[in-house]
Amino acid sequence: MGLACKIFGACFVGILFFHGSCVSDRAPNYSFMHNATSAPTISYYDYIIVGGGTAGCPLAATLSHNASVLLLERGGSPYGNPNITNLANFGATLSDLSSTSPSQRFISEDGVINARARILGGGSCLNAGFYTRAAPEYVRAVGWDGRLANESYQWAERRVAFKPRMGQWQSAVRDGLVEAGVLPNNGFTYDHINGTKVGGTIFDQDGNRHTAADLLEYANPSGLTVLLHATAYKILFAIKARPKPVAHGVIYRDASGAKHRAYLKRGSKNEIIISSGALGSPQLLMLSGVGPAEQLRAHNITVVLDQPMVGQLMSDNPMNAIFIPSPLPVEVSLIQVVGITQFGTYIEAASGENFAGSPQRDYGMFSPKIGQLSTVPPKQRTPEALAKATELMSNLDQQAFQGGFILEKIMGPISTGHLELRTRSPKDNPSVTFNYFKEPQDLQRCVDGISTMEKVIDSKSFSKFRFDYMSVPQLLNMTASAPVNLLPRHYNSSQSLQDFCKDTVMTIWHYHGGCQVGSVVDRDYKVIGVDALRVIDGSTFNVSPGTNPQATVMMLGRYMGVNILRERLASEDQAK
Ligand SMILES: Cc1cc2nc3c(=O)[nH]c(=O)nc-3n(C[C@H](O)[C@H](O)[C@H](O)COP(=O)(O)OP(=O)(O)OC[C@H]3O[C@@H](n4cnc5c(N)ncnc54)[C@H](O)[C@@H]3O)c2cc1C
Ligand SMILES: *[C@@H]1O[C@H](CO)[C@@H](O)[C@H](O)[C@H]1NC(C)=O
Ligand SMILES: *[C@@H]1O[C@H](CO)[C@@H](O)[C@H](O)[C@H]1NC(C)=O
Ligand SMILES: *[C@@H]1O[C@H](CO)[C@@H](O)[C@H](O)[C@H]1NC(C)=O
Ligand SMILES: *[C@@H]1O[C@H](CO)[C@@H](O)[C@H](O)[C@H]1NC(C)=O
Ligand SMILES: *[C@@H]1O[C@H](CO)[C@@H](O)[C@H](O)[C@H]1NC(C)=O
Ligand SMILES: *[C@@H]1O[C@H](CO)[C@@H](O)[C@H](O)[C@H]1NC(C)=O
Ligand SMILES: *[C@@H]1O[C@H](CO)[C@@H](O)[C@H](O)[C@H]1NC(C)=O
Ligand SMILES: *[C@@H]1O[C@H](CO)[C@@H](O)[C@H](O)[C@H]1NC(C)=O
Ligand SMILES: *[C@@H]1O[C@H](CO)[C@@H](O)[C@H](O)[C@H]1NC(C)=O
Repeated sequence: MGLACKIFGACFVGILFFHGSCVSDRAPNYSFMHNATSAPTISYYDYIIVGGGTAGCPLAATLSHNASVLLLERGGSPYGNPNITNLANFGATLSDLSSTSPSQRFISEDGVINARARILGGGSCLNAGFYTRAAPEYVRAVGWDGRLANESYQWAERRVAFKPRMGQWQSAVRDGLVEAGVLPNNGFTYDHINGTKVGGTIFDQDGNRHTAADLLEYANPSGLTVLLHATAYKILFAIKARPKPVAHGVIYRDASGAKHRAYLKRGSKNEIIISSGALGSPQLLMLSGVGPAEQLRAHNITVVLDQPMVGQLMSDNPMNAIFIPSPLPVEVSLIQVVGITQFGTYIEAASGENFAGSPQRDYGMFSPKIGQLSTVPPKQRTPEALAKATELMSNLDQQAFQGGFILEKIMGPISTGHLELRTRSPKDNPSVTFNYFKEPQDLQRCVDGISTMEKVIDSKSFSKFRFDYMSVPQLLNMTASAPVNLLPRHYNSSQSLQDFCKDTVMTIWHYHGGCQVGSVVDRDYKVIGVDALRVIDGSTFNVSPGTNPQATVMMLGRYMGVNILRERLASEDQAK
């Protein structure tokens, strides 16, 4: 413990120095980052992390200070790609459906179109940027050490979190939330407190995105190897070595398809850590023989451990939104404000026309080009329906894009589903079912949220950004034919609002679960029933943390890195 403190003290000074001397608008020149095609066929490390995403990057950066670390990422580098860096390009990556796109589209069995990351930095390279911590009650309930959690949040914040530049439209939503009774007004804060607040963002004041890949600037370059275009196919286990199967290597392929093997060096503290995200982590466990035995056998996968909970308890928080056309021009914004209600609904907003894959006007976060199509029920969101909506959108007048969306996400959710393998390739999406609104309380939270959103729209503060619909029938007609939702006036009863929630459900991309704490991993994130293997990422969450998860995913990567090193150094101390 004494040694660990000394070491972390030294790290901290190093970080301050580094931070002070770092030029943030320049892409870092990571000497430790390589194309997997140039990697040796066989290599050895103390830690092998699979997935250089929102959790994997902070974890690798931390472990590299006292061990040799290999980070395998199936995607490429985010640096130098304006689709990722520029706020106004939010939709560009999500509408790029090529096999090398930084985002891989998937459609749940529910019919909702969704996306998963395929790039160093993971979801933090695709997302809407909102940065906000989990509530202290959440931290306590999970069992994290509150002080280390706070230090770990701050560690991430020093590099990637900013105060947003508030425009008039977002300010009007904030004031409208306060008028609607979402109180108190908590000003700007990263903290999760009931009421209305302005949260953090990973976009800096110039609109440039900072991502989890930037947290690799904290790394010890001599302790870290990052391989890009390195897709893990399988975790290797020594089956007979001990009472439990022991993870000891990873098979991965580079972009040319060549196979490589990375093994753990000898040493009882060395480990493989899966940080492949809520779809990738349960999928890789199953492909490696850890999962429901019957399902594995159906795919001819040798069963290492029958673990029926792998891929179970998957959830996605439903998102519902209303478009409000504006008589005044509005700023381009992603999420900046949130109303944290007492009834378990979070109300957020985004505005302005966004680029989404072509130089045409677009609805950004709500564009059919990225798969969002709330005007038809989920199962009818076919490629044809998307194409039709995109076509319709391209014929609309500029005025139709002037406005913004107020959206709601419900807490939890309580409803859960499951994930199953479709094929034996890690490149193919598994099938996943989220069962949106299956539990009545989830549906009630949505209905209550819509009512509060209507109050915001009807508030005095928001009035200058909305038309009086009755006096502007032409505009109503125009936007009613657009692929977006207007204020749902004809949903005038509780029953019809329930239908509205189900019919217009979209994703806010906060899906999680599949390797939950307490069922697949223990409280130290160790996979139950095998040795030398952990899962650390959003797949371990029982419910989504805070109003939006990324801050807590980054925090978890750092937090577990510190804990794993403490354990390692304590055991080395003991050995002396
Ligand atoms: C469009 C979008 C908008 C969002 N908006 C917000 C927001 O505004 N605020 C917020 O807080 N959250 C937001 N989120 C959610 C947040 O970004 C995610 O919850 C978070 O990034 C998940 O982190 P993770 O580490 O669990 O997974 P990821 O960040 O997805 O990391 C997993 C990594 O593993 C890699 N991988 C997977 N399989 C393999 C394999 N077999 N071999 C090698 N590598 C592999 C992937 O390429 C990926 O880089 C958004 C997400 C999306 C997609
Ligand atoms: C990046 O660093 C490597 C080795 O440290 C060096 O060879 C290379 O020239 C650098 N590239 C840039 C663009 O600075
Ligand atoms: C851990 O790292 C510190 C500084 O980074 C170094 O002084 C120390 O020797 C390392 N300890 C081990 C066991 O590698
Ligand atoms: C962590 O920080 C939050 C504020 O961000 C505070 O409310 C909480 O008490 C802190 N927890 C600990 C254990 O210091
Ligand atoms: C890495 O290798 C792949 C395949 O060989 C290639 O397509 C890609 O351009 C390479 N990337 C870099 C950054 O060299
Ligand atoms: C599994 O193996 C059997 C026998 O070799 C074969 O008939 C079957 O098609 C395989 N199934 C899958 C899903 O690969
Ligand atoms: C905050 O809201 C939650 C519901 O989301 C409620 O359970 C809790 O009691 C509220 N806390 C305070 C301090 O009002
Ligand atoms: C940016 O996105 C567009 C639209 O999806 C795509 O055509 C283009 O190739 C992308 N650019 C890069 C550098 O990935
Ligand atoms: C409403 O819009 C449609 C096209 O979407 C158009 O054909 C029709 O004439 C419009 N009606 C009115 C009253 O403006
Ligand atoms: C609700 O709307 C429907 C049609 O949109 C209408 O027929 C009905 O009278 C309305 N009910 C109430 C209570 O306003």
